[in-house]
Amino acid sequence: MSDFEIAPSLLAADFGYLMRDIKAVEGKTDYLHIDIMDGHFVDNLSIGVPVVESIRKYTDMFFDVHLMLTNPEKFVKPFADAGANMITFHIECTDDPEGLISLIKSFGLKAGISIHPHTPVEKVIPFVDKVDLILVMTVVPGFGGSSYLDVSDERISAVRKALDASGSKAFLSVDGGINKKTIKEAYDSGARYFVAGTAVFGHEDPGKAVEELRECITMS
Ligand code: DX5
Ligand code: ZN
Repeated sequence: MSDFEIAPSLLAADFGYLMRDIKAVEGKTDYLHIDIMDGHFVDNLSIGVPVVESIRKYTDMFFDVHLMLTNPEKFVKPFADAGANMITFHIECTDDPEGLISLIKSFGLKAGISIHPHTPVEKVIPFVDKVDLILVMTVVPGFGGSSYLDVSDERISAVRKALDASGSKAFLSVDGGINKKTIKEAYDSGARYFVAGTAVFGHEDPGKAVEELRECITMS
């Protein structure tokens, strides 16, 4: 049993063959990371509720929905109804993180909180024992294929320290630029949940890519 998880990021899949790509990783991991972008909080658009609802019919994978949008309160119920298992919102997008965590949990879902690399990491520390996952963005959010930012390691370590100090069992997740070169560095800094888009779906065999990423930690 390993002490970490890999979550392929659907953003890097072929949207014309979504279920083919999901089936390629199903069985290699339980987790699927799904980015929802609004063109306001981030400079990009991705998918919305109907797509999540559609793919829910064909897989039992754990849907880790990453809301990269303003007014996240408005979208909790729609994504809960569509079949999300966890909803992660950005700390920059709400004035009431505790209320939003409660709202997400009221639907029986796990709750996550994410932080943009330009936001002081201290902002999420008060919530480490209130959520199921803390997502430290390791690139400026909005696009796949960006490079892992150098500032990430110290930010991950700071959250790791806070999690351990509070006794929280929440996952410490990283998202952006995670690949065979960077995953171990993020692990050593304290991350235990690795979102990977390009490194998985850019590989000719996405299932094998998940195994190879896992081995970068377990075989080192
Ligand atoms: C980026 C998204 C990521 C994205 C990661 O803003 O939140 O989930 O898919 O893509 P890679 O792994 O290619 O950096
Ligand atoms: Zn994401």
